[in-house]
Amino acid sequence: MSHTQAGPVESERVPLKARNVSFSWEDTPLHWVPGDPFTTHTINVLHLLLPAGERWFVHVYKQALPLIEDERLRADVIGFIGQEAVHSQSHDEVLPHLREQGLDPTPYTAQVDWFFEKLLGDRTLPPGRARRWWLLERVALIAAIEHYTAFLGDWVLGAAELDRRGADPTMLDLLRWHGAEEVEHRSVAFDLFQHLDGSYRRRARTWATAFTALVFLWQRGVRFFMENDPTLTAPKYSVKDFHDRGRQGVLPSTGAMLRSIPRYLGRGYHPSHEFSTAQAVAYLEASPAALAAERAEPSAREAA
Ligand SMILES: [Fe+2]
Ligand SMILES: [Fe+2]
Repeated sequence: MSHTQAGPVESERVPLKARNVSFSWEDTPLHWVPGDPFTTHTINVLHLLLPAGERWFVHVYKQALPLIEDERLRADVIGFIGQEAVHSQSHDEVLPHLREQGLDPTPYTAQVDWFFEKLLGDRTLPPGRARRWWLLERVALIAAIEHYTAFLGDWVLGAAELDRRGADPTMLDLLRWHGAEEVEHRSVAFDLFQHLDGSYRRRARTWATAFTALVFLWQRGVRFFMENDPTLTAPKYSVKDFHDRGRQGVLPSTGAMLRSIPRYLGRGYHPSHEFSTAQAVAYLEASPAALAAERAEPSAREAA
């Protein structure tokens, strides 16, 4: 969906709530896109990046909360924190299943943990300007990353070719439930950045950092999976495989990814101008995991 308005599109904004989903992985095969380890592992990198990355979002946002002077934005940020905490945990729960299948991701996740906890973690800065600067840098980085999580969320909601190829329904539900919540809360990180700072130079600079880091970490993650997959003896893959899968519709296309760059860097950008909250909410109303979470909620309340 595209909008021509310069400001936020009010109808795209909905109250945010965390859905306490859970998934059973015992029936999910190692190559959950049948016969296609490259696509499987390219998407699997999400399970390596998101647990630490989304924990870091939550950590940073808890520091930003006291600075918010708008009650509605504060409610959005609290909803965002709740959703990201469940996302992080849900991807983390895939990792024991990978280990059982002979693919121990620990050497890679240790690097990702270092990246988010040490490189992007709290520094021993004095209170005041320096500490605020580092918080704003991280808030801006999160806004840039969320441009891509929304992009990927919108993509996976519409990736019908994965269904046609018989991709594992539980994995698709994890990806689409998560993707739908990313679309649902796609404006929160940008709104928070605008509220606390909004400098265009910071937006552009942190976009370049986030994009470079994502490409670097992603290609390393794919290589890690392909080289450690116990069923692949001499894996051969290249950037061309990525472009081909994009054309086939089982991965995002290179063209769509490139076109997303000037959108984020446009002066009039607002996340509510792209993607569709209605499509996201429609998926969440049909998602097996989200429906099961909703059914479990009253009994959880009774037990409390
Ligand atoms: Fe998320
Ligand atoms: Fe998100």
